[in-house]
Amino acid sequence: MKFELTEEHLMIQKAARDFAQNELLPGVIERDTHEKFPAEQVKMMGELGFMGMMVDPQYGGSGMDTISYVLAMEELSKVDASASVVMSVNNSLVCWGLEKFGTEEQKQKYLVPLAKGEIIGAFCLSEPEAGSDATSQKTTAIDKGDHYLLNGTKNWITNGSSASVYLVMAQTDVEKAHRGINCLIVERGMEGFVVGKKEEKMGIRGSDTHSLMFTDVKVPKENRLGEDGFGFKFAMKVLSGGRIGIAAQALGIASGAYELALRYSKERKAFGKTISDHQAIAFKLADMATEIEAARLMVLRSAWLKDQGLPFDKESAMAKLYASTVAMKHTTEAVQIHGGYGYVKEYHVERLMRDAKITQIYEGTSEIQKLVISREVLKD
Ligand code: CAA
Repeated sequence: MKFELTEEHLMIQKAARDFAQNELLPGVIERDTHEKFPAEQVKMMGELGFMGMMVDPQYGGSGMDTISYVLAMEELSKVDASASVVMSVNNSLVCWGLEKFGTEEQKQKYLVPLAKGEIIGAFCLSEPEAGSDATSQKTTAIDKGDHYLLNGTKNWITNGSSASVYLVMAQTDVEKAHRGINCLIVERGMEGFVVGKKEEKMGIRGSDTHSLMFTDVKVPKENRLGEDGFGFKFAMKVLSGGRIGIAAQALGIASGAYELALRYSKERKAFGKTISDHQAIAFKLADMATEIEAARLMVLRSAWLKDQGLPFDKESAMAKLYASTVAMKHTTEAVQIHGGYGYVKEYHVERLMRDAKITQIYEGTSEIQKLVISREVLKD
């Protein structure tokens, strides 16, 4: 067992850290306040190879491993979780899904520009009445021979208005329940496809979350991903990998808040000494450091399992469950350590605390992670 990162991993980590400090940090408060999508920054992320990190270079990607991806995700998320969720959805849900299950034509047409970061992708599973209960899809994709006729509404779609390519889950055969669901590749601009209202969110306010409406959208048959009826399994498989990315995001939010709290505690004086010299604060920092390190080991291990081609469903759910709990707990502690300063925007920790909450909700709530984990442990 080796706990060391390679030279290449360290280089990627540093490149991501530099990018986050130099390009994300300067405008992050403004983007959060005005709900501004980080378009320029996402373009740069594409140029740096962060939008298709694990994709084979023959399809425009960087050909890196999942460990590199989580290292970069952590660094970006320390500073700007709105930018990192764009990266996470594009890499884990869209590019990985297309590379693993797409046809050669689909890869050439969609994966190449997505992996290069020339366009952005979105993953569309959630509906007004199908969030955690994802098998209850009301969106329909009726088989019309050479195309599907797509009708329905999707909710909470990350990259909703900035994406060009959407992976949309829809029910083709109700009788077959979840085995009758398909995943269709829908292009922005297809007739009958409308981007609905933008959600005004508590956190990750720079990312654009929208509802999407489909009315008699004709989607060519060749845009189906995988065999007929594979859509639900496809969604579950990519979400399982996606949870590694969101766990890394939660880890980054937690460690970003911890680093700010550590620095502040060594500068701020109260009762004649720096607050880090008060055990009440020092012990908080000890708890933060310990639990963040434990989360990091879980995130890295689930990434390593995926890279080895070993099963990782349980471990990715555990990593997401634990890292998101740690993120919520310790961003709250970081605000507490900052006192009144923690409650104002300028000190960043209040934003990290708001951003942390979503990591306990999207790509499966904490309760869904416990469902996945308990089913796995009860199998043994
Ligand atoms: N890999 C492959 N197949 C899987 C799987 C996996 N990880 N998990 C489940 N399946 C298969 C099962 O084998 C089963 O197939 P068969 O019936 O053919 O054997 C089928 O899927 C149904 O599985 P279950 O019986 O377990 O279904 P369920 O309804 O009891 O539970 C669930 C499923 C775990 C609750 C699932 O619905 C789920 O994960 N819900 C949460 C959905 C979610 O994460 N949504 C996030 C939206 S996307 C998002 O947030 C992105 C973003 O914007 C950032």
